[in-house]
Amino acid sequence: DPAASLYDRIGPDALALLVHRFYARVARDPDLAPIFPDDLTDTARKQLAFLTGFTGGPPLYHQLYGHPRLRARHLPFPITPRRARAWLACMNAALRETPGIAEADAQELYLALSRVATHMVNAEDGAE
Ligand code: HEM
Repeated sequence: DPAASLYDRIGPDALALLVHRFYARVARDPDLAPIFPDDLTDTARKQLAFLTGFTGGPPLYHQLYGHPRLRARHLPFPITPRRARAWLACMNAALRETPGIAEADAQELYLALSRVATHMVNAEDGAE
């Protein structure tokens, strides 16, 4: 169904698996791990809520936590272009290794997230 949302096409189970695999990679990434908490349980829960609404599913993040104000929420962390690339590399790898996400859907989600990631950059390389 071409009118179905990305959320409908990916489905809640694959989306949850994607988020899980993404943070497993973030935890192992030398550029990203230092700015994330050691326990990524809450971070992953919030990200799943966010991506659910972002892909056209129920607006869980808004319901649970209010307006995301993503750029403001990221300001406490130095997000350099290098970290944005690392974040997107983790997401790209997680998309590839999550069964049940069609190639076209993976590309669409990646493209949308790469725009957001670029917008999150708030520090220059070397400011880590
Ligand atoms: C939270 C880093 C891009 C969505 C966070 C946190 C960090 C972080 C350090 C705080 C984790 C915590 O305290 O639990 C980064 C870096 C990015 C990036 C380095 C590279 C560009 C993005 C993008 C999105 C996003 C593209 C959009 C999907 C979120 C959400 C949260 C979050 C929803 C949770 C906010 C909350 O606490 O309610 N991010 N992020 N981030 N990030 Fe990012």
